[in-house]
Amino acid sequence: METLLQLKPTPSLVSNQQLPVVNSYNEWDPLKEVIVGRVEGAAVPKLEPALETNSYPSNLWFFQKYGGQPFPQELIEAAAKELNEFCRILEAEGVTVRRPDVIDFTQPYKTPDFEANGFYAAMPRDILIVVGNEIIEAPMAWRSRFFEYRAYRSLMLDYLRRGAKWTTAPKPSMSDEFYDVDFATKPVEVRYALTEKGHFVSRDTEPSFDAADIVRFGRDLFVQRSHVTNNIGITWLKRNLGDKFRVHEINFPDLNPMHIDASLVPLRPGLALINPARPCIQTDLFKKAGWDLVEAAPSTLPDNWPMYMCSSWVCMNILSLDPETIVVEKQEQPMQKLLKDLGFKVIPVDFRHVYTFGGSFHCATCDVRREGQLEEYGF
Ligand code: ARG
Repeated sequence: METLLQLKPTPSLVSNQQLPVVNSYNEWDPLKEVIVGRVEGAAVPKLEPALETNSYPSNLWFFQKYGGQPFPQELIEAAAKELNEFCRILEAEGVTVRRPDVIDFTQPYKTPDFEANGFYAAMPRDILIVVGNEIIEAPMAWRSRFFEYRAYRSLMLDYLRRGAKWTTAPKPSMSDEFYDVDFATKPVEVRYALTEKGHFVSRDTEPSFDAADIVRFGRDLFVQRSHVTNNIGITWLKRNLGDKFRVHEINFPDLNPMHIDASLVPLRPGLALINPARPCIQTDLFKKAGWDLVEAAPSTLPDNWPMYMCSSWVCMNILSLDPETIVVEKQEQPMQKLLKDLGFKVIPVDFRHVYTFGGSFHCATCDVRREGQLEEYGF
């Protein structure tokens, strides 16, 4: 890992755009710099309460078989190739691409509260969120993700030195008391009923949230209570962002709520994609603000594609390069058609092997700098 001393001081403004180095208020303004995750060094997490809840029962064998070991090499190679090509395409579009450090996530660790080994640095969206010039490291709620921030430390130090506000949220101890440890073992219908009543695997004993449970619309941010984001975590977020921002909690009928970016994805002011399988309960909020909600097209992914950590709805997990240009998976033709019909320029990129690691373009990135400033969009 690069140390503080090795980092050269650089001016706090990026000279060509006169923007602070960290500057992003929404999901669609013109993209200038982005962190793209990596799969090198990824480990399969050992089963733990939150992972067991978020995974599908049919996938548990994968974690039982490989937990604590590196991800199978052929999966890593195929996904790394797609991520590298994605980086090349972003650079060709004029975007500065940064990558986390390579870390061996199989290394076991022990805190006073639990023992685990790590996971990966494939999905920067899960752990980092930029709000204005502040970059927040989320606390996370999986034991296997407790030390994930280490892969991003040299980047955070660089942004700090160049003028960013860097905040790390308090991490939950992740002791047994933090989880409803029986939750995952309950039958799926029981879990679903519990989730609908606002009961999740993480309890409210200490704040937790994943950055990917938040979606940014300028002054208004939307967050979902999920298995990894709890009420007290949302309170911390509201208090930390202060009066300049409004944080609204929204919900979806979702058996495995974790990360909002396969449920609600804004595309440009006034237009957002929603997931027809889990329509937002507070749809009125968006309609009243004058937003059109368009249903995402289903994925073309074959049923037998290895998907251990997410659903094929990551087909809607696109990355906007600006309000007119969107990166979409190459084989998701229905999604591409939908977006073209809405007037967007679509950049198709192969990413199915990255899906296997639990996400797509939005998950695998964290937009550090976009043009634009703080605005309101009708809410
Ligand atoms: N829970 C979502 C689904 O399976 C996947 C969201 C992935 N997002 C992320 N930032 N890792 O549909």
